[in-house]
Amino acid sequence: MRKIHCINAISKYGTDQFTEDYELTDEVNEAEGILVRSASLHEMQFSNSLLAIARAGAGVNNIPLDACAQEGIVVFNTPGANANGVKELVLAGLFLASRDIVGGIEWCKENKDDANIGKTAEKAKKAFAGCEIKGKKLGVVGLGAIGAEVANAAIALGMEVYGYDPYISVNAAWRLSRDVKHTTSLDTICQECDYITLHVPAVDSTKGMINKAALDQMKDGVVILNFARDVLVNEDDLAEALKSGKVKQYVTDFANPKSVTMEHTIVIPHLGASTEESEDNCAKMAVQEIMDYLENGNIRNS
Ligand code: MLT
Repeated sequence: MRKIHCINAISKYGTDQFTEDYELTDEVNEAEGILVRSASLHEMQFSNSLLAIARAGAGVNNIPLDACAQEGIVVFNTPGANANGVKELVLAGLFLASRDIVGGIEWCKENKDDANIGKTAEKAKKAFAGCEIKGKKLGVVGLGAIGAEVANAAIALGMEVYGYDPYISVNAAWRLSRDVKHTTSLDTICQECDYITLHVPAVDSTKGMINKAALDQMKDGVVILNFARDVLVNEDDLAEALKSGKVKQYVTDFANPKSVTMEHTIVIPHLGASTEESEDNCAKMAVQEIMDYLENGNIRNS
């Protein structure tokens, strides 16, 4: 019987995929495989029995990759499995940044006892006027599974889309609408776009990529969306740019002590992949990867 330790928030529809040769165990020390979503494994002591870790999600920054490589533990992720879920929330972010939906909802709540709310609202609504995204320029930084989905959806909404990715694969390029303008220069994205959305992993070359130098190049009133990782943005530099009005809005899926206090910022508590569908897809892919490795030695998405 193969033993698998499941750390947190893995959809039961994923673990239902295990055959009768598998058993879920609470004892991490006896497990051959670990399934994990967002919990950090950086402090974990790995036992000799551990052969594989599957991260039910795209990012692997919660896993100590160097230590795993040293121990011969294979690490899988589930690229694309939650791409639609994240894309849909990014689109919501685009609309939240462009129309004052949050302000309008708050106003209605505050005025719920006003018997003439219909009439009062007609006067109040001027304050919540927004703009349309059709015809605006969107820069997609990173054209992996999620970035490609966002780019194609934005094209369908009538946006002019620029895609930045120095490492784009031929397959990913084929998935993209021909209307996406490719660039290998982040400067082009900064200089041209009205909206910039980040879809790259948190690695040494991307951490802090949105810093003062990048922000200074951007158009006045740019909107930045971050549904990838908070460390991609130097939040001190961004806070200054938000204060000065250089950046009109920041929409981030990462709540941290700094982001929740920044002006003109909409903070969501990492909900991009939190849909039933994305959770099921990620868990199923993670379980399949672990079983395929333990039984057949096959390695995909490692
Ligand atoms: C990801 O890396 O795909 C997300 O962090 C997934 C999640 O929310 O668990």
